[in-house]
Amino acid sequence: MPRHPRLDPLADRYAARTHGMKTSEIRALFSVVSRPEVISLAGGMPAVTALPLDVVGSMIGDLVSGLGAQTLQYGSGQGYPQLRERICDVMALEGITDASASEVVVTVGSQQGLDLVTRVFCDPGDVILAEGPSYVGALGVFQASEARVRHVPMDDDGLIPEALEEALLDCRANGDRVKFLYTVPNFHNPAGVTLSEERRVALMDIAERYDLLIVEDNPYGLLGFEKGPMRALRARDSQRVIYLGSFSKTFSPGLRVGWVLAPLAVREKLVLASEAQVLCPPSLTQYAVARYLDTQPWREQIKLFAELYRDRRDATLESLDALMPEGTTWTRPEGGFYVWLKLPHGLDAKLMQPRAVNAHVAYVPGIGFYADGAGREYMRLSYCYPEPDQIREGVRRLARVIEAELDLHSTFDTVDTGSFRAVGRGPRVPDVETIVAPATSERYEDGA
Ligand SMILES: Cc1ncc(COP(=O)(O)O)c(C=O)c1O
Repeated sequence: MPRHPRLDPLADRYAARTHGMKTSEIRALFSVVSRPEVISLAGGMPAVTALPLDVVGSMIGDLVSGLGAQTLQYGSGQGYPQLRERICDVMALEGITDASASEVVVTVGSQQGLDLVTRVFCDPGDVILAEGPSYVGALGVFQASEARVRHVPMDDDGLIPEALEEALLDCRANGDRVKFLYTVPNFHNPAGVTLSEERRVALMDIAERYDLLIVEDNPYGLLGFEKGPMRALRARDSQRVIYLGSFSKTFSPGLRVGWVLAPLAVREKLVLASEAQVLCPPSLTQYAVARYLDTQPWREQIKLFAELYRDRRDATLESLDALMPEGTTWTRPEGGFYVWLKLPHGLDAKLMQPRAVNAHVAYVPGIGFYADGAGREYMRLSYCYPEPDQIREGVRRLARVIEAELDLHSTFDTVDTGSFRAVGRGPRVPDVETIVAPATSERYEDGA
């Protein structure tokens, strides 16, 4: 029998892999959070207005007028060699000092890097281990490749090594083929936590013992608030770790420039897979990033971004501490963009969402960050884009929504704090003030 023949005449022809494709929880919110009256703590958009936009603009203009022939031409499938050299300088900040430009593949954002790595390694049915929760864009890629995701729990220090070992043993016992561990060790999206140094050592030890390949996705590593960057997993093992990097959070997401650092044999396959997808990454934006790194104080700019995000993180945590009702817990990020909040026992972030939108505040329900339907009691709050005053007002609105929800569930009297640290509880929330978010035209909620 044809499926929905009247709704879509091609319904029976789609590849099986399209059947599980769904809009991410973030994109599903797009129309809602674009409304100016809504304060969005949902999208993970970098604060690009903190860039010297006139300088960047004239730099790109000069590139085209001066080097037009190259910048507007096709380029190499592996990426512009000079940019690959500069990428090695960037990675050196995280202790990766042995990388050579020949091992780097420039990609259209690290999102394409994720897709390439998954294509190169995964057949349908293969298992990918990933933190629970995990970056929604990675889950989408894994799902499209028909791999199966097994989540490994985290706590405030990141992925739990014992749980990883347990998952590996389980997979071994089931005869599952584990292709790699996907991990975001720094300022995790969405959990906000960072893998501790002891756990990095333990993780590399497990990887060695179980012959585990690691895909280290690190777009936020240079955006720490309290101390310098942590030593990358890739700096500890050049053969067992494939590293994904991005200029989206440290420069601009709109340029769509990221990279993969992989051993030469893997790099070979990644380049072939990338050429099949895009022929070559865009020349103009690669030249723009290379010129930016060559001529602009990019390290200072990253510091400036980190200071701006630290102020927004502080506004978020102070408001949560002051306003959230008892039983609500959240992580305390030391960098990056996100706080992971757990609702008091019995509440469901997905079910609560329409009430939050009515109260003019948006978040991403936790369910979007799990491949197995878990996470209903969680939500992700992003502090990267709104101004501190908007954040305070957004958190105030959210606290009121949670309190109203709790009143509805007043029969619940136990509080489960879960694996993430329980912090703060505060007084009842005062009345909502009206703070209008930036105009729609300035806002774009992406799948970050
Ligand atoms: C953990 C993680 N990986 C990858 C990406 C994709 O970034 P890019 O803009 O480089 O494609 C994001 C974007 O938010 C992310 O949070």
